[in-house]
Amino acid sequence: MIIDTHAHYEDDRYNEDRDALLSSMPRQGVGLIVDVGAGIRSTEGAVALSEAYDFVYASVGIHPEEIQQLTPGHMDWLEGLAAKEKVVAIGEIGLDYHYQEPDQELQKQWFIRQLELAAKVKLPVIIHSRQAAQDTLDIMTAHCDWAQGGVIHCFSYGWEMARQYLEKGFYLGIGGVVTFKNSKKLKEVVRLAPMDKLVLETDAPYLAPEPDRGKRNSSLELIHVAKAIAELKGMDVEEVIRITEENAKALYRLPRQAGRSV
Ligand code: NI
Repeated sequence: MIIDTHAHYEDDRYNEDRDALLSSMPRQGVGLIVDVGAGIRSTEGAVALSEAYDFVYASVGIHPEEIQQLTPGHMDWLEGLAAKEKVVAIGEIGLDYHYQEPDQELQKQWFIRQLELAAKVKLPVIIHSRQAAQDTLDIMTAHCDWAQGGVIHCFSYGWEMARQYLEKGFYLGIGGVVTFKNSKKLKEVVRLAPMDKLVLETDAPYLAPEPDRGKRNSSLELIHVAKAIAELKGMDVEEVIRITEENAKALYRLPRQAGRSV
C-alpha cells in the first residue's frame, strides 16, 4: 500500500469533499495517511481526523510560520495530545527563513521547546526546514533526541546535508518536487540516498507533482512520486511502494498490519 507520511486534510481546501476523498483512499491504493498539524487549529483537526478514520494517524506540532499563536501554556496542551494513541510524531516543527517573519530567534525558541517535548514524550519528529540548513542542524545537534528518529519533510537541501541526517538514522520525505523538471538537487539526493531511508509524502494540499503541478494535491497523486523515485533508482514502482511502506511504518513505529489494504 501507499503511505502518505505528511498531509494536511484538515485544511479548508478540503471542506467541500473531505469525507468522500478520504473514504476513497484505501480502495485506490493509499492505505495509511499521517495528517500533520501545523498551527493550533490544524493540530486539533489532525487529531480529530485520526479519531474519525482508522487509516489516518496524526502528528501534533506548530510550524515555524505559525508560532506567533503560541503561549508557554500551549506546550502542556501539545503534551496532552501527544499521549493519544494515534498521535505518532511531533511536527511539523523547525525553521523557515523564507520570509522576514516570524523573528528567527523566536522561531529557534519554539523549535527547541518542541524538540525537547518530543524527547520527553519519546516520539519521532517531523522537521520543516527552509533556507535555514545550518541553524536547523546546529539546533538539532544540541536538542534533538536522535534515538527517537524523525523525518526531514520536503527535503530541499543538497547531498552533504542529507548525509548528516541519514547518518543519524533520519528519513527524507520525498514529494511532488522530485517530479519537477528543475529539481536537479533533489533528484541527486534521491539517487544517492539508501532506499530504506526514503518515505513518500504529499504535503497536500500543496506541492502537487507533475502532471498536476499547481492543482490541489492529494495522496492519490503519490503514484507519480513513486514512479519518479523508481526511475531514479532503476527499480519497479511496486518495489518503491513496498519499501516506502515499510520505511514509513518504521519511522512512525506503526504495527506492521496498520493501515487498510483493500
Ligand atoms: Ni506540511
